[in-house]
Amino acid sequence: MNQQPVILCVDNEPINLSLMEAVLAPQGFLIVLAQDGKTALDRLHSERVDLVLMDVMMPEMDGFEVCRRIKADSATWAIPVLFVSSLNDSSFEIMGLELGAADYLVKPFSPAVLQARVKTQLEIKAHSDLLEELAAERARQLIHAERLSTLGTLAAGIAHEINNPLSYIFSYAQMLLTDMQKLKSLMTSHGVSETALRRAWQDFLEQDAEAPVNIAEGANRILVIMESIRKFSCQGQREKVPVSMVVCIENALSLCNNALKYHVTVDKKLAPGLDPVIANGQQLEQVFVNLFKNAADAMDAKKKGTLSITLDQANGFIRCTVEDNGPGIEPQQLEAIWQPFFTTKDAQTGTGLGLSISRGIIEEHQGRILAENREDVQGARFVVELPVRSTKQ
Ligand SMILES: Nc1ncnc2c1ncn2[C@@H]1O[C@H](COP(=O)(O)OP(=O)(O)OP(=O)(O)O)[C@@H](O)[C@H]1O
Ligand SMILES: [Mg+2]
Repeated sequence: MNQQPVILCVDNEPINLSLMEAVLAPQGFLIVLAQDGKTALDRLHSERVDLVLMDVMMPEMDGFEVCRRIKADSATWAIPVLFVSSLNDSSFEIMGLELGAADYLVKPFSPAVLQARVKTQLEIKAHSDLLEELAAERARQLIHAERLSTLGTLAAGIAHEINNPLSYIFSYAQMLLTDMQKLKSLMTSHGVSETALRRAWQDFLEQDAEAPVNIAEGANRILVIMESIRKFSCQGQREKVPVSMVVCIENALSLCNNALKYHVTVDKKLAPGLDPVIANGQQLEQVFVNLFKNAADAMDAKKKGTLSITLDQANGFIRCTVEDNGPGIEPQQLEAIWQPFFTTKDAQTGTGLGLSISRGIIEEHQGRILAENREDVQGARFVVELPVRSTKQ
């Protein structure tokens, strides 16, 4: 723990608070005090607290109730609570521990014992914080590895997407070069009339007028593709920011363009003016790339597949529905598809991580993702719902 540990002492007797402070402050802890349960809960929400040291018998809200509330709140449940009580009865001690308290000391306590118990609990807390941080970092690395693997499977198609503008940039540049050389030799040769030169210039300007425009357009197309690859593959930001789902969907479609364009028509119904979601946009894009690529793979055997993407907002959620008209999902596999490494594809096409990572990402954003077969026609439907924190409040 790099910062000075903060201990919240809660007791309705000021003399007890002074005693706790006198025992613990010299140990290098920052002590904050509360004389009742409500003040204690308020302080827990307004400032960083690493440990709570609390009496049991207090008027209005007793220590057990305060502990129950601390443990029921996702923002405070991990803070260790130590009871210091004059209730020297094992049934109270059991009750405190059952409520989630880390320890129970009986008054009068030995200062050295209190210091040792507090130190132990703080060390346990520091280790579990570290473990949690490591687990979150591993999860981020796994998501990133899957993103790179997806990009790998799209790489051949993306290279093809780049090759196309590159080849016409090359042809137009060649054409410009040849025509400019022709003009140059005409201008340096003797006996060419003014009229003939003017005509040659005019022909050049007319015939080659489109070439620079097409070269710029092609170069721009390549820049856009490169930028979407760069954004998709980098480690990315950790914070969640307001993100437009429409932008995520469009970026994902652009990365999947080559996987879709030969056999799939994309039918988009994206409602305008939707609220943003507070999210990691790169991870949401990853979810949509997975869904679109799965749909493209599922419709592989079809000459005319349709990928329908609908985006709307209702009851505080943005909902994206992705439907295809492939073979659908075997009913007995509807649960299994979410398991890591479940795949019906060969090793070159799929690793089976796409949907399990996608579910992890959506749930980490307090959203839902589900799969079902379509009722009207053959095909699969995936629904992603994410909560909106409206900016129009
Ligand atoms: N749109 C769909 N239609 C039919 N089956 C699907 C569809 N989407 C997913 N599936 C099934 O779910 C399985 C798991 O999908 P998932 O995306 O997790 O892995 P994958 O696509 O096989 O491999 P990858 O790790 O490359 O994504 C697929 O192998 C496929 O059998
Ligand atoms: Mg997949």
